[in-house]
Amino acid sequence: MRQLRNAASGAAMLATDGVFSMDGDVAPLRALALVARTEEALLYVDDAHGVGVLGPQGRGSVADAGLGVADVPLQLATLGKALGGYGAVVAGDADLVEHLAGVARPYLYTTALPPALAAASLAAVRLARRDDWRRARLHDLIGLFRTGASRFGLELMPSATPIQPVLCGDEATAPAMSAALEQAGFMVTAIRPPTVAEGRSRLRVTLTSLHSPQQVNALLGAIAEARDRIACNVA
Ligand SMILES: Cc1ncc(COP(=O)(O)O)c(C=O)c1O
Repeated sequence: MRQLRNAASGAAMLATDGVFSMDGDVAPLRALALVARTEEALLYVDDAHGVGVLGPQGRGSVADAGLGVADVPLQLATLGKALGGYGAVVAGDADLVEHLAGVARPYLYTTALPPALAAASLAAVRLARRDDWRRARLHDLIGLFRTGASRFGLELMPSATPIQPVLCGDEATAPAMSAALEQAGFMVTAIRPPTVAEGRSRLRVTLTSLHSPQQVNALLGAIAEARDRIACNVA
């Protein structure tokens, strides 16, 4: 707030992730939109982890919060996460998007997406908009994972999204658990400082709609087994 107040009117940008990539929680977008409006700042939401997953037709965290282009003039959607492709798009206020296309150096000086990839992403967008069952199934799997994790005494974070961190504490434990899980057939990345704070190393579990309840239960069992074998000290 202090920084926004010190900026000349209309000169500031308030940038946030829609879904935070390491914790899985959702930004308080309505509150941020209010702050941006009051302070005449431009709100930009990087929705890499919200698109396809949250909101009506998977339109992301901005739509899920009941906001639109008037509140969030710029949004970034990656094509490489829920949409399974590669690359990214910015969407929002037409003048702003045109301005970016004219001046954004990474856009100007990078080879454009191959047409086949653009077509694949378009097909993925159509599927994501249509297939509510994928989001319903994901929602069920997230619930199953969280309930099971609490039964096994695993420490989670307050996330309702497919990003479900399991806290492991010190820096050495998370990679050791990740390696043990790989041996057991599960690919779960270990996240350590400086990506996250000291003492908050974790396994970053990411669920998809094509996982099965059996796989989620087997993963929970494997994490608990690895935890029991490799001392897990949560700060
Ligand atoms: C919040 C956020 N934005 C953007 C990106 C970049 O996405 P991509 O690798 O598809 O360019 C990531 C990647 O993890 C991310 O977490």
